[in-house]
Amino acid sequence: MSVQRLSVGIVGAGLMGHGIAQVFAVAGAKVRVFDPSPEALGSLRLRVASNFLALGLPLDLVEAIEPVDSISAAVASASLIIEAAPEDIALKRKIFAELAECTDADAILASNTSVISIGEIAADQAAANRIVGTHWWNPPYLVPLVEVIGHGATDQGVVARTMTMLTAAGKTPVHVRRDIPGFVGNRLQHAMWREALALLDAGVCDPETIDTVVRSGFGARLAAIGPIENADLVGLDLTEAIHSYLLPHLDASTEPAAGLRERVSRGELGAKSGRGYLDWEEGDADAARDRMVAQLRRAENLLTTWKPS
Ligand SMILES: NC(=O)c1ccc[n+]([C@@H]2O[C@H](COP(=O)([O-])OP(=O)(O)OC[C@H]3O[C@@H](n4cnc5c(N)ncnc54)[C@H](O)[C@@H]3O)[C@@H](O)[C@H]2O)c1
Repeated sequence: MSVQRLSVGIVGAGLMGHGIAQVFAVAGAKVRVFDPSPEALGSLRLRVASNFLALGLPLDLVEAIEPVDSISAAVASASLIIEAAPEDIALKRKIFAELAECTDADAILASNTSVISIGEIAADQAAANRIVGTHWWNPPYLVPLVEVIGHGATDQGVVARTMTMLTAAGKTPVHVRRDIPGFVGNRLQHAMWREALALLDAGVCDPETIDTVVRSGFGARLAAIGPIENADLVGLDLTEAIHSYLLPHLDASTEPAAGLRERVSRGELGAKSGRGYLDWEEGDADAARDRMVAQLRRAENLLTTWKPS
């Protein structure tokens, strides 16, 4: 299928919403975006244009994105609607109840929730059969993966059509067969994160060392060789021997790390407050983001391959 002439509605114009809108605009779709914040809506085209400048894409593509001031204006006549509002289940449920009333009967209603079970968002909703999860990764226009998650009542045709639309937009969708909190990607990511913060609480190393170990160690090869392929490469006998010895020593907490809780209670929230596990000077966060974008653009197969029409 082609994304040309596809009409897409985006609900939420923040970090993820503006980037997802950008993906569909570049692929040739007509995109309408709603956000209750006048600042988010007012700066939408500027933020996308600044991404286009950095990526060397034609600025006039931004005209495919129309900021609108109501949810119904964003989604009326759209075939695909993607909700990218804050990670709050009550808010998301309210948005999907509204979407059921102002969308075409066959429109796909997708949530970009990071970890919330799609079934919890869709429970008792009038349009439950067309609600699906599409979990994108930041920045959505550079990271290819989108996890697609149906819940118990999602029509299988909805999952299939969502996968087709995402492929046509240049993304790499994967179907997550069970609707579990965190899906696949965030379970893997947060399993590592839990261990990293436990190592810091135990005083095994400093925060900079954790990042160096990941970036210069196994992280350096992850985009080329995933963990399963690597287990096969090193041999499953070695993998089994390592797991037999190591797994009892790994952190298995079901609560956030003590050091994380303490920092949050002190207002040390990371880059936005100037201190988290690391100290952040002005400009450091932008430099880190620039480094991430440059790396993603360099990495083989990580740049989306479609060309602007
Ligand atoms: N940030 C990430 O790396 C990332 C990655 C994958 C998924 N997600 C998920 O995507 C969603 C959005 O995250 P984000 O990082 O873009 O957040 P964000 O805070 O940058 O953007 C959220 C936007 O939603 C708007 N909003 C608030 N109430 C709304 C409403 N009732 N209707 C529509 N919009 C509303 C806000 O004004 C804001 O502009 C969350 O569910 C998040 O968990 C985030």
